[in-house]
Amino acid sequence: MVTSSEQDGSPEGSYDPMWQFAELAGDVRDAYPMLAGIRADSPVLQVHVGPWSSDRSRLDPKTPRATSLFTVTSYELVQQVLTDNVRFSSAGYATTIGQVMGRSILQMDPPEHQRHRALVAKAFRARVLDQWRDTIIGSCVGELIDAFAGDSRADLIPQLTFPFPVRVIARILGLPEADWPRFLRLSTELIAIMRNWDRAVAASQELRGYFAEIIADRRRNTRDDLVSQLIEAEVDGRRLGDDEIYPFLLLLLPAGAETTYRSSSNLLFGLLWNPGQLAAVRADRDLVPQAIEEALRWETPTLAIARTASQDTELGGVSIPEGSLVAVSLGAANRDPARYPDPDTFDIFRADKQHISFGDGAHKCLGMHLARLEMQVVLNAVLDRLPGLRLDPAAEDPHIHGLLFRSPPNLPVRFDPV
Ligand code: HEM
Repeated sequence: MVTSSEQDGSPEGSYDPMWQFAELAGDVRDAYPMLAGIRADSPVLQVHVGPWSSDRSRLDPKTPRATSLFTVTSYELVQQVLTDNVRFSSAGYATTIGQVMGRSILQMDPPEHQRHRALVAKAFRARVLDQWRDTIIGSCVGELIDAFAGDSRADLIPQLTFPFPVRVIARILGLPEADWPRFLRLSTELIAIMRNWDRAVAASQELRGYFAEIIADRRRNTRDDLVSQLIEAEVDGRRLGDDEIYPFLLLLLPAGAETTYRSSSNLLFGLLWNPGQLAAVRADRDLVPQAIEEALRWETPTLAIARTASQDTELGGVSIPEGSLVAVSLGAANRDPARYPDPDTFDIFRADKQHISFGDGAHKCLGMHLARLEMQVVLNAVLDRLPGLRLDPAAEDPHIHGLLFRSPPNLPVRFDPV
């Protein structure tokens, strides 16, 4: 019999989500030379699919296989795919992440997509975000820094960037503080879906049960939280049912928590690895927004997203048959030398900082303003509260890794005692 620890590979008798994430990222130090080679060779490349889709630990075996797989690596063509919902559909998510999430906006095509997105988008307006800056984001970050600020050393990944975004989501949803440990555990298990499918399915079922209680409570007593707003929202003159609210709540975990943890980690890594730029940002906080945009361009947390060709079509001179899976490489697009001079260098002073890490077109990230705000709050808090912040000179081999998702597994730092 295969035990769960054998199956997920963690040490016997334990399930450590942080370990799962490090494993999931894969120990590929630099994915970019390979992507640059593919782009230079053919920005639309047909890939021959191996037997990976029958590996149960990575993907549900019921998942239908696409007839063929193409990967798109130039900025221009990536943008073309993402802004064309007619030729390139998002429906393929139904056979992957949709199986644990349910039918979320991520897998909808227009016009259904616009109707649902318009409803949930209200909850992420700038006015709402402003209210969350100090009350929710600032206090989540502050509490975590309080726990190590007196130590003069820390590992910023497990102690700060990994835990804070899920806490932010728990607060945005208005979950009672007593429930947080359970919510944090289930969220992490759900997000680790590519690593342990069965555990993620179990976590999604438990989370649904949990959300059912929260939704029932908010139907009785409306509050000032996201769950109450979703209950009151209307599509085509009718309110959302529980089955439409769950998928959105579940989507917030991979879409909003994992990405923000990785992007904040990459931002801190980029600055710590380039002390001159860190000093510049410390001295002039007006540079914070451009440091964030450059970090998102330089190391996007999610390297690729997917579309399915909804008709026989052509892209960059290559024929793509209907039903093909099209892997859109955000990472390769962000480092396209045709758009960015010296693309592999982290340079917060570069002229063109616009990137495609939030996607583009109808599905462009709904939480991008929140993500930027979270990155701003965490960077400012670190600069304010940890004077003399630097990489720990004794740190063993600090690095970013990953082929699908990228971020540093650890970020050991030193700072001056306060
Ligand atoms: C730096 C952090 C983030 C990155 C890099 C990121 C990236 C992305 C990308 C690339 C997409 C498009 C997926 C596709 O087209 O297939 C997306 C969609 C989405 N993101 Fe984000 N995201 C981030 C943070 C957030 C946050 C904080 C939230 C909310 C709490 C969020 C919620 C969503 C939602 C709901 C969608 C689906 C939008 C739709 O299908 O219309 N994201 N995100």
